Amino acid sequence: MQDTKKGLEDVLALDTSICSIDGRQGILKYRGIEVEQLGQMSYDAVSYLLIHGKVPDQRELDSYSKKLRSERYINSDILNVLNVCNYGSEALDSLRTAVCCSAHMDTEKDDSSMEANMSKSIRLVAKFPTLVASVHRYKTGQLPIAPDENLSHGANFLYMLKGKVPTELEADAIEKDFILSAEHELNPSTFSLRITASTMADIYSAVITGLCTLKGPLHGGARKGVMNMLDEVSHPENAEKYVLDKLSHRQKVMGFGHRVYKTCDPRAKLFKDIARRLADEQGDSHWYDVAETLEHTMYREFMATKGKPIFPNVDFYSAVVYKYLDIPPELATSVFATGRVSGWVSHYFEQYANNRVIRPRANYI
Ligand code: SDX
Repeated sequence: MQDTKKGLEDVLALDTSICSIDGRQGILKYRGIEVEQLGQMSYDAVSYLLIHGKVPDQRELDSYSKKLRSERYINSDILNVLNVCNYGSEALDSLRTAVCCSAHMDTEKDDSSMEANMSKSIRLVAKFPTLVASVHRYKTGQLPIAPDENLSHGANFLYMLKGKVPTELEADAIEKDFILSAEHELNPSTFSLRITASTMADIYSAVITGLCTLKGPLHGGARKGVMNMLDEVSHPENAEKYVLDKLSHRQKVMGFGHRVYKTCDPRAKLFKDIARRLADEQGDSHWYDVAETLEHTMYREFMATKGKPIFPNVDFYSAVVYKYLDIPPELATSVFATGRVSGWVSHYFEQYANNRVIRPRANYI
């Protein structure tokens, strides 16, 4: 038996054809297509690509989009659950409860056939934006807004969240956020989901596993941490003191570092460009400037003290995009999950297709 690796670092746990990451070159691909190219597609098309393993032709895409749009609605029982379990500010807790209740109410919950799992995955992908937007409406004392089937996945989410149709750039920004957040190989939440799937538990149970794991501040919770950090730093001239203070107390600065990337996370670069364009559209570079100063200070400090750089990860500039889209910090991890659910269900299908219960050993000390 080989030695244990803390955090399973660099351990190859299974084969996959869904995602490939070159941590040295900073290259990320979904089904062999580089993430820079995926950013030019719609979220519906990328979701189809992840789940079905191929870029949809126009007929396939129209049919998939039509199914997603028809399944965006959530019933009054779920809305009542969201209204009564409206405790605290963290939206992910309410989302987790709502997905659990949706599992109860799904008429195909006991059917584990491929067809039933496919229609359940469509309901999960389609309903996450409605659930997250509705959670936010209740938490801010507003009534939920019904989905608009004429809007794209991303535009509809912002419409249900804020009650007005977003600008073209805002809609494009959230679509790209969902795409860039959709999949990332065996990250903690996806790996935990695959373990649940490997026991042949149902797809809702697997997605709920992923949701719970994503919440951690060192994983999907970091996006909320970055948003709170931006508020705390508040001006570029405060960035230096903030970073030095965190590092001197050996505390992590949210949104930086990655287990796999040894160079910059390619998603961070794409999110930085989206943030820049939103800043320009709004004529307000404030948050962008705070973030860029933090980025440069972290890079300089790590080079000076550790002789190697540290780079922003997917959660850093996506948090800046959320600031410009007026998405509140307590919603950030839930919005991340709204993109990631397509990757989660594609891993569920892949595990199901060639399954063996995931059961590693421990070294007794
Ligand atoms: C996501 O895995 C995925 O793919 C996840 C994800 C996805 O798409 O699903 O990419 C999404 O979760 C991104 C990561 C979001 N988390 C954060 O931003 C939290 C801050 N980051 C760190 O917690 C950390 O960088 C991790 C968790 C991301 C990576 O952890 P590792 O690989 O275990 O690295 P480490 O903690 O061993 O750090 C190595 C060194 C340490 O210093 P030394 O003890 O060697 O002196 O780098 C330092 C760390 O202290 N370090 C940091 C740091 N990240 C690493 N120091 C300050 N701030 C940081 N953010």
